[in-house]
Amino acid sequence: MIPFNKPSITDLEISCVADAMKLRRTSGDGPYTMKVYEKFKEILGIENMLLTTSGTTALEMASLLIDLEPGDEVIVPSFTFSSTANAFMLRRAKPVFCDIRKDTMNIDETKIEALITKKTTAVYTVDYAGFPAEADAINEIAKKHGLFVIEDAAQAVGSSYKGRKAGTLGDFGCYSFHETKNYSMGEGGGLVINDPKYIDRAEIIREKGTNRRQVLKGMTDKYTWHDIGSSFLPSDLLAAMLYAQLERYDEIMAKRLNVWNIYHAQLKELADKELLKQPVLPEHITHNGHMYNIILPTAKCRDNLVARLKEAGIYAYICYVPLHSAPLGRKLGYNPETCPVTEDYGQRVLRLPLYADMTSTEAELVCEKIKKILK
Ligand SMILES: Cc1ncc(COP(=O)(O)O)c(C=O)c1O
Repeated sequence: MIPFNKPSITDLEISCVADAMKLRRTSGDGPYTMKVYEKFKEILGIENMLLTTSGTTALEMASLLIDLEPGDEVIVPSFTFSSTANAFMLRRAKPVFCDIRKDTMNIDETKIEALITKKTTAVYTVDYAGFPAEADAINEIAKKHGLFVIEDAAQAVGSSYKGRKAGTLGDFGCYSFHETKNYSMGEGGGLVINDPKYIDRAEIIREKGTNRRQVLKGMTDKYTWHDIGSSFLPSDLLAAMLYAQLERYDEIMAKRLNVWNIYHAQLKELADKELLKQPVLPEHITHNGHMYNIILPTAKCRDNLVARLKEAGIYAYICYVPLHSAPLGRKLGYNPETCPVTEDYGQRVLRLPLYADMTSTEAELVCEKIKKILK
């Protein structure tokens, strides 16, 4: 049996979590949270990140920080997870769905400007499959029209765009450390604050609207209510798990890239025969081996392949139902014509099993099965 995902947990994760327990300092912003911040500085050069309870809540924090008002419009790709849109819809902002590029399946930056109205406040980009979206073009449009850019980098920890790290490409970057992501704390996330002027308010919003973090920093001796906010900080027990994963940063990255590269090399012969389409990696991007997608010629072919792989004990996954054509999207009045490329690719894409502890033999077995089924 080859599952879709398997968390990579070693004695190091177990000992770090046990150590956090022994320290008897289990709420948020404890010693392991601080160690995680140091690691992010050391490994990715990221200075201002706040751990959150999920990628979802990192996106929600960003939506609070940009002061969205009811009726504001937000441009967002439809080919994403519900959290990207929920984050601003909880502020009563309205999604304006933008179609995706055929190569990276990221927001099509050439289609953004036509969607801008007087109500547009922000563009939420998604670094799908760990491939960063076209940040330079998007930021230029945002600057011209006075829009915020929120980068949903949930899948892209460690990827880069023209030498800049995913998460640092917009005003705010949102990471996920969910069990299915490259570096995990079970459930968790991180908000990267790229403009230091938002740090103080972000700290307050994350701590139920209080300046409690200033007490921890020794800047004041009591804390009180300053702003709206919620409980966005995770337990230090979870931070301990993430710390261990970051200690294994290079190992995890190399193992995932090994599987990705096996898929890419071995499925090429099927791509050459046009039996499937492989991911296209632009030259200015480096990726983190988060996900390997293939696009099948038809929806029927994709669904058949999923079923046949499952019979063989291999669990592949159909990715997202595009938001505009999902039940809520339809209820809100969007229709399949809103984003034709998204609609088409959404029905034909298949995500293959990929996790750090997947062996080369297992990856090769998946390729062999796919070849047998498609030929
Ligand atoms: C693109 C994208 N955004 C947001 C999220 C939400 O992250 P989390 O599960 O940590 O809340 C995910 C998780 O699957 C995701 O893939």
